Amino acid sequence: MKFFSTLRKDIRVVFERDPAAKSVWEVVLCYPGLHAIWAHRLSHALYKRGWVLLPRLISEAARFLTGIEIHPGATIGEGLFIDHGTGIVIGETAELGRNVTLYQGVTLGGTGKETGKRHPTIGDNVVVASGAKVLGSFTVGSHAKIGAGAVVLKPVPAYATVVGVPGRVVVMHGQRVHNTEDMRRIMEAHLVEPDDQMSEIEDELDVDLDHATLPDPDEEMHACMMKQIQALEKKVNALEQQLRQKEDK
Ligand SMILES: CC(C)(COP(=O)(O)OP(=O)(O)OC[C@H]1O[C@@H](n2cnc3c(N)ncnc32)[C@H](O)[C@@H]1OP(=O)(O)O)[C@@H](O)C(=O)NCCC(=O)NCCS
Repeated sequence: MKFFSTLRKDIRVVFERDPAAKSVWEVVLCYPGLHAIWAHRLSHALYKRGWVLLPRLISEAARFLTGIEIHPGATIGEGLFIDHGTGIVIGETAELGRNVTLYQGVTLGGTGKETGKRHPTIGDNVVVASGAKVLGSFTVGSHAKIGAGAVVLKPVPAYATVVGVPGRVVVMHGQRVHNTEDMRRIMEAHLVEPDDQMSEIEDELDVDLDHATLPDPDEEMHACMMKQIQALEKKVNALEQQLRQKEDK
């Protein structure tokens, strides 16, 4: 029966991707990620049939029990593995491919500026590490890795590793990326047509990889305070002078 084979596959996925998993009963009873996925299957099936309140109630109950919030509208491919899970949020129009791995604290959300499709599309075999935020209706290419704590706001090419805030590509196909030229070379070597998303990625890369000239808010604040101190010193000196002149008279 498909239902049982799907359950078996869900459990197998945990053993494949979590070395800490020891027994089937432990996985079935102690993996909130698994419980959240099972609850989402039910809520999504009802959502697709046009139900509104019951799927939301199921998703809310699952959030209460697991700490993982998956909107019933989110489309999730087989082989999803959610490790730990606390604090994960997956938005209504998010789409996840096959064999995606998500760690605790991940948000697959919107920026608040878009309507309609406003959450990301995640390709096959993507890993989104703990605390990463992927915000917007763009695509994260298959086999990409999103580093812990990254905030990703632009499309991510396949086989890329993205880290930092805002997210920038640092590795592609296992090779270090320092600029758009590196990226183009690697894409060409792997016979990937640099598509029209490349221009957006280029904009981001050209800015973000140039760490040396990024504005330093601490330095700016320091310079601003120095200016104010100098202005105050001038005022105090002028007042002292006026006081002395009055005393002399
Ligand atoms: C991004 C990640 C998946 C590694 O991907 P990778 O393709 O193997 O990349 P590398 O490890 O070769 O790192 C490439 C560069 O990015 C840097 N980097 C890696 N992860 C980073 C992160 N989260 N934030 C900032 N920089 C990071 C590395 O220091 C390296 O830079 P360097 O060569 O100048 O030292 C991994 O570092 C990560 O974030 N893992 C977290 C997994 C997780 O959430 N675990 C929680 C379990 S409870």
